[in-house]
Amino acid sequence: MGRTQAEDHDTTGPRLVGHRASGPARTGPAAASPGVPYDARHTVLPPEAPDASAVDRDVSGAVGRVLDHVLADRVARARDVDPLFGGDVAGRVAHFTRTGGKRTRSRFLWWALRACGGEGAAPVAAALRIGAALELLQTCALVHDDVMDGSALRRARPTLHVDVAAQYADAAPAGRAGRLGGGTAILAGDLALVWADDLLAETPLEGDGGRTVRRLWSDMRTEMVAGQYLDLHGQATGSRSLPRALRAARIKSALYSVERPIALGAALAGADDDTTAALCAAGRCVGTAFQLRDDLDDVFGDPRRTGKPTGGDIGEGKPTCLVAVAHARAEAAGDRRALDVLDRSLGHGALTEEGLEEVRGVLTGTGARSTVEAMISRLVTRGLRHVDGALLDPRGGERLRLLLASAAGEGPPRDTHRRGPRPEPARAAGGQEADR
Ligand code: IPE
Ligand code: MG
Ligand code: MG
Repeated sequence: MGRTQAEDHDTTGPRLVGHRASGPARTGPAAASPGVPYDARHTVLPPEAPDASAVDRDVSGAVGRVLDHVLADRVARARDVDPLFGGDVAGRVAHFTRTGGKRTRSRFLWWALRACGGEGAAPVAAALRIGAALELLQTCALVHDDVMDGSALRRARPTLHVDVAAQYADAAPAGRAGRLGGGTAILAGDLALVWADDLLAETPLEGDGGRTVRRLWSDMRTEMVAGQYLDLHGQATGSRSLPRALRAARIKSALYSVERPIALGAALAGADDDTTAALCAAGRCVGTAFQLRDDLDDVFGDPRRTGKPTGGDIGEGKPTCLVAVAHARAEAAGDRRALDVLDRSLGHGALTEEGLEEVRGVLTGTGARSTVEAMISRLVTRGLRHVDGALLDPRGGERLRLLLASAAGEGPPRDTHRRGPRPEPARAAGGQEADR
C-alpha cells in the first residue's frame, strides 16, 4: 500500500496557534486565597529555579526534582487526611510518577521552550512545573488505560490495579480484591489528574502566553479523554478503518504526547504564531509516528524494552493502524487465510506464543508491517521539514530536532550534514528503558 489518503491529511487535526506573550510569566510564592490560612509547610514551589543551561544538561533530572518536591508535599498531606489512603493510593501515584517513564512530554515542552529562545528565570520555573504536571497527567492516562485495557504489566512492573489486588488477595474474599484493585486505580488516576491540575493552577502565569498555556492545558485533557474513547469505541465495534485508526492515534496520543507539550513550551517562550504553527505541525506528524511505533512494538517489540507483554493490542482487539492496513491488504488480495487469522485472533483474549507468531506472519506477509514502518519514516521526515522551516534558536532548535527525530524509535536524522549536540539519552526516570 502506498501513501494513504488518510495519511495525507496528517496536518488536519485540531490546532491551536499560540500568541506572542506580552511579557514573561512571573514566578514567586503563589498568593493564598483571601481568608484561607496559608500553611508554609504546604508551599509547593521549589526554593529556586535552576538556570536554563543547567536544565539543558539534564532535563529529566530537573523535572524529577520538581516532582520529588511536589509529591513529597502531596503525599504528606494525603497521609494527614488518612494514613491508609496516603499509603495505598497517594503513595502509589507518587511512586509510579517518580520512578518510571522517559519524561517524553516534559522534554518536548522544555526543548520547544529553548528552541523558541525561552531562558529567563520565570519561564524556566514555569516550564519545569508544567513539565512535572505533564508527567502526572501521564500517570493518570496510563493507570486508567491499564484498567480499561485489562493490562497486567506496565514499566516492567505489575499495573497499579493488579498490584493493589495482589496486596489484598489474602485479606479480601474472592473477587473483592480485584474490584478493590480496579476501583483504587480509578481513584489513583483521578488523584494524579487533580495533582497535575493543582500544579498548573499554582504556577504563576500572566498575559497572552499564560492564557494560551491554560487553554492548551484544558484542550489537551479533553483531547486525551476523547482519544481514549475513540480507541474503546473502535475496539468494541471491531473497526478496521484506517482513517479512524489514524484519527484515534492522533487524538489519543499525538496531541497530548507531542504536539501540545511543544505548544506549551512555545507559549511559555512567547513564540510568534508562525513559529508555533511550524512546531505544532512537526509535533502532529511525529506524535502520530510515535503512536504507530507503539502499535508495532506491541506485536514485534521486545518486552524488556517496552515493559509490556507483546500481543496485548491483538488480544484486546485494538483498532490499530497496523491491523487496519493488514486487513485492507488481505481483503484487496482476497487472502482468506490472513483474514481468518485476524478474525480469530483479534479481541479473543491473550494469545499463545504460537498464535501471536501466526498474527506476526500475517502482519508481515500482507506488507502491513513495512507499510507502517514507511508511514513512520514519512511522518518523521515531514515533521523535521516543518522544524527546518522555522526560525529557531540554533542550539535549542537542534535539540528539539533530535528529540523529534528519535521519538518514534527511528535512527538518527538522515540529514547527516547537520552537526550538533548529542541527544539526551532516552533513559527512564527509574533507570528503566521501558515505557512510553
Ligand atoms: C497508554 O499506553 C496510552 C494512552 C494512555 C493514550 P498503551 O501502550 O497501553 O497504549 P494503548 O492502550 O495500546 O493505546
Ligand atoms: Mg488503551
Ligand atoms: Mg493500553
